Amino acid sequence: MHDVEISRAVEILRPARRVLAFTGAGVSAESGVATFRGAGGLWEGRSIEEVASPEGFRADPIKVWRFYEERRRNVARARPNPAHTVLATWQDRFERYTLATQNVDGLHQAAGSRDVLELHGSLWRVRCVSCGTERDDLLVPLPQLPPLCAVCGAMERIAVVWFGEFLPPDVMAAAQAAAETCDVLVVVGTSAVVYPAAGLVGIAAEAGAKVIEVNPEASALAHLADVTLRAPAGEVLPLLDAGLREG
Ligand code: OAD
Repeated sequence: MHDVEISRAVEILRPARRVLAFTGAGVSAESGVATFRGAGGLWEGRSIEEVASPEGFRADPIKVWRFYEERRRNVARARPNPAHTVLATWQDRFERYTLATQNVDGLHQAAGSRDVLELHGSLWRVRCVSCGTERDDLLVPLPQLPPLCAVCGAMERIAVVWFGEFLPPDVMAAAQAAAETCDVLVVVGTSAVVYPAAGLVGIAAEAGAKVIEVNPEASALAHLADVTLRAPAGEVLPLLDAGLREG
C-alpha cells in the first residue's frame, strides 16, 4: 500500500456526505477474533452446515450450542482495535453514516458505534426456536446445554443468521437503502462471497458510489473498487482518518 492510494481514498472521502461502511470478519482480526475463511479460519476443516445451519442444529443442538459458547468466550476476551474506533468516530464526521456489519461479535458497538446494522445477527442474543422470542444474553460462559424459552419452554439458540436462513428483513432493507444512496462505500475486511450481504457492494457501485476496499488480500468484489488499500484495517483506517483530519 502506498501513500498515494491513501491520499486518493482521503480525496474521495473528504467531500462525501453519505457514507456506508460495510465490514466483515477481517475488521476484528487484529482484535484476535478468528475470520471464517483461509488458514486458521473458523470454517477450516469444519463442515459449515454442521454448526451454521438449521439442519445442523436440529441434528445436534448441543454440539451447535457449544460451538457458539466457545466463540462467545473467545470474543468476550477481545477488545475493539483502532479500525473499530475510527469507524465509530465517523458517525460524527459524515452527514449521513451507516455501519453495516456481517460480524456477530459486538465489537463495533463496544467501540462506540450506534445503530449498527447487524446483517448476520449477534452472538449476544438468543432466540426461541419455536415462538421466536428473542432476548439479550451476555453470559460468559454459557451453560453447557441450550436454555429453554421462558415463554413457551422450547429450546433457545444463538440469534445469528445461519446458511439457508433469511437476513433480518428490516436490517437488510436499511443497508440496501444506504447502499443505493451513499456517495462512498468503504468495504473493510470481508471476502465478499456470502450473499445477500455481499450484494451491497454491487448495489452501491451500480448506483454510482465510489468504493474503497480495505483488505490485505483482494476480495471477490475487488474489481468494483475505485481504490484498494491492501493492508490491515487497524493500520489503514487510522491513516485515512488522519488524512481527513488534516483536511
Ligand atoms: P471471511 O473469513 O470470509 O473473510 C475475511 C476477510 O478479512 C478476508 O478477505 C481477509 O483477507 C480479510 N482480513 C484478514 N485480516 C484482515 C485485517 N487485519 N484487516 C482487514 N481485512 C482483513 O469473513 P467474512 O467476509 O466476514 O456468515 O465472511 C462473511 C460471512 O461468512 C460471515 O458473516 C459468516 C461467514 O460464514 C454467517 O455466519 C452467515
